[in-house]
Amino acid sequence: MNIGARLFRNVVKSPYRLLRTIQRSLDPAYRLQHRANSSVGSAIPRDRVQLLEQNPGQSSDRECRLLAYLAMEADAAGAIVEIGAYKGKVTAWLVEAAEKAKGKARVISIDPHIFGTWEEYQNTVQKFELENRGLTIHKELSHSLGESWQEPISFLLVDGSHEYEDVVTDIEDFVPHVLPNGYVVFDDARGEVYPGVTRAINERMRTRSEFDEVGMIKNFAVFRRKAA
Ligand SMILES: C[S@@+](CC[C@H](N)C(=O)[O-])C[C@H]1O[C@@H](n2cnc3c(N)ncnc32)[C@H](O)[C@@H]1O
Repeated sequence: MNIGARLFRNVVKSPYRLLRTIQRSLDPAYRLQHRANSSVGSAIPRDRVQLLEQNPGQSSDRECRLLAYLAMEADAAGAIVEIGAYKGKVTAWLVEAAEKAKGKARVISIDPHIFGTWEEYQNTVQKFELENRGLTIHKELSHSLGESWQEPISFLLVDGSHEYEDVVTDIEDFVPHVLPNGYVVFDDARGEVYPGVTRAINERMRTRSEFDEVGMIKNFAVFRRKAA
């Protein structure tokens, strides 16, 4: 490309890039992801991050960093609750991050392993010695625990059943126990791939005035309970 064309391209692109940078710096969801990337990078050693990233799972490395950051920020007065653990990739990240949190929050992981993932989940648990590091495992449906749930929650990840009725039940069972300033993240909440998830969030989460919606990050819908 000649100099004239290059100059023209930069003049055209620069204002656009500038605008995008300004827009992003004002977007709370983008700022949260940005903070997550830098905080996790400085709190967890690189070789450890690489090991965690090698675990099998459905969440991307970027998504895991965001979840780890929210676990690091979690109030130790409540538990970190994961609904839908699959092969344990996120579980391992949450435990690793919770250890870096002030006061060490404990992690509760709930999954009946209906897709035959119990063995691989157990491999991850053993490889990272998660049960010696504050993890409690419940191999059951979220509602079996949720219907009588009493414990305060500092960070809730909802990624279990994606059926409308089940997501509604997860919201009704667990969300009222989220502490002030605590985060709630729903996976697979973008678009209409999982209509049950988006409908449940629209009807039962966006209507809760005690929560602010931080925004959408990748496939996550992120909410935060207002300060007390
Ligand atoms: C999308 S996967 C979770 C992926 C995981 N977060 C990851 O990133 O690797 C959904 C999981 O939810 C579990 N599940 C399905 N119904 C559930 C329920 N009612 N309660 C808890 N977990 C459930 C499934 O067994 C499955 O392992």
